[in-house]
Amino acid sequence: VVWTDFERTTIQDIFSKIDYGVVGQAALSRCLIVYPWTQRYFGSFGNLYNAAAITSNPKVAAHGKVVMEGLEKAVKNLDNIKATFAELSTLHSEKLQVDPDNFKLLGDCLTIVVAAQLGKNFTPEVHAAFQKFLAVVVSSLRRQYY
Ligand code: HEM
Repeated sequence: VVWTDFERTTIQDIFSKIDYGVVGQAALSRCLIVYPWTQRYFGSFGNLYNAAAITSNPKVAAHGKVVMEGLEKAVKNLDNIKATFAELSTLHSEKLQVDPDNFKLLGDCLTIVVAAQLGKNFTPEVHAAFQKFLAVVVSSLRRQYY
């Protein structure tokens, strides 16, 4: 993947501005609410019965932050995302058996949350850079599936 200077700066800038706890919790909650079949992987998280339960579930909040910290590794290794995520891809494939289509859904939820946080700074150009970053993340997470 070739990144322009604008794309690099934009992606790093987004991650330096957002609060991982807030954004991760909001994005994962949104995903679990809007695409309820994604709940099936989180059987150990306790009560995911409705939107209120999901948004106040401390395990969802904690895991949202874990996902953001995972993404931070990609931000810090923009030129090597596939290798950076090789192990995480194997984990989601072989151990967790997550349907890889769900990566895109979580990415879309994250985009909505980030857009809301950045407000007018989420310009079409910023959106395009973030979308490209997520596309590389999703394809890297899909890589160890067969
Ligand atoms: C665990 C990242 C998407 C389900 C994890 C972990 C990370 C991570 C860093 C912790 C790994 C460890 O403990 O070594 C990501 C990223 C994603 C993503 C960056 C995409 C942007 C998804 C999706 C699902 C999912 C879409 C299911 C719908 C899980 C589950 C665990 C996990 C069930 C284990 C949770 C636990 O029991 O603590 N993920 N993930 N992940 N992920 Fe993902």
